[in-house]
Amino acid sequence: MDSIPLGTTGETVSPICLGAMYFGSKTDPETSREILDRYYDAGGRFIDTANIYATWVDGFAEPKSEPFLGEWMADRGNRDDLFVATKVGFEYGDVPKSLDPDVIEQEVDKSLDRLDTDYIDLLYAHVDDRDTALEETMETFDRLIESGKVRHIGASNYYGWRLAQANTIAEERGLTQFSCVQPRFSYLIPHRNSDFVRQRPATDESVTYCDDHDLTMLPYSPLLRGCYGREDRPIPDRYVTTENRLKMETVRDIAERRDVSGNQVVLAWLTQRDPPTIPVIGCSTVDQLEQNLASLDLSLSEHERERLDSIETLGGLH
Ligand SMILES: NC(=O)c1ccc[n+]([C@@H]2O[C@H](COP(=O)([O-])OP(=O)(O)OC[C@H]3O[C@@H](n4cnc5c(N)ncnc54)[C@H](OP(=O)(O)O)[C@@H]3O)[C@@H](O)[C@H]2O)c1
Repeated sequence: MDSIPLGTTGETVSPICLGAMYFGSKTDPETSREILDRYYDAGGRFIDTANIYATWVDGFAEPKSEPFLGEWMADRGNRDDLFVATKVGFEYGDVPKSLDPDVIEQEVDKSLDRLDTDYIDLLYAHVDDRDTALEETMETFDRLIESGKVRHIGASNYYGWRLAQANTIAEERGLTQFSCVQPRFSYLIPHRNSDFVRQRPATDESVTYCDDHDLTMLPYSPLLRGCYGREDRPIPDRYVTTENRLKMETVRDIAERRDVSGNQVVLAWLTQRDPPTIPVIGCSTVDQLEQNLASLDLSLSEHERERLDSIETLGGLH
């Protein structure tokens, strides 16, 4: 698997990031381990988790994904080969939703402990916190980078204007800026009145801001639970629009002509975007992982890309 640049970090990473949200909880330990092994053996080095994963799953009130990854890395002895991203900011247990300096610092220490590591390659602000001054949050992240506990920072679930504000504040104060962004982003665009509670779908202005500032986007939930290639997964309610029905027909037509799955077409569309995005994929079986990694071998023609982009795309407002 080739490596590609990650935003303004100066690092290169795998073109597909493996989401570990349900590893060790909803996805049983044996299967989770098989998926991790297969991703690693295929050359994948970029893994995504969060301090809260997946405390909403019945029977798993305590974070499971980070310690599960920690054990797997210790067993494989591969920590230093990997680029590990985790997140802070959402509430779980008695931890409030907050990017207050104390909360960030305490949670980073807990993440380091659970991951059984001395450093986090990429720490995301998982959600914006309008009750804490951006100055305080960015200063805290900067201190963590100075201390060596964190190497790079990113933002998830931010409005474009708040992201711009945070990075401008950091720039003016000589602090580290967010180097990449993890939004809800896929080929289908949600209905504009959809409420994703605290998740923030990418918008024209956030995508344009990222593209203009070399901030790589790492789309989460990129396959909308596999709906591009599964009869049992209709278009999710918040995505039912006329444009999306047309988009789905286009994906299915290209998939049929190329004898691949629609999910692979969409992953190829994401990784071959200009500039590329790095999808954060979720898989509950090794077979899904194999299919998703195989999308890296599917080269979309200019004509196919034009067809996909002709209906409705985000960004491009330069
Ligand atoms: N920053 C954030 O706020 C945020 C939010 C959500 C997720 N994330 C990150 O993004 C990662 C992925 O999120 P997600 O799980 O919501 O992604 P998703 O792409 O919406 O859904 C993944 C699910 O799609 C199905 N699937 C995947 N590949 C498939 C294939 N090749 N064929 C058929 N079905 C397939 C599987 O469903 P089944 O298991 O039902 O078969 C899989 O569990 C997470 O692990 C996490 O790291 C971040």
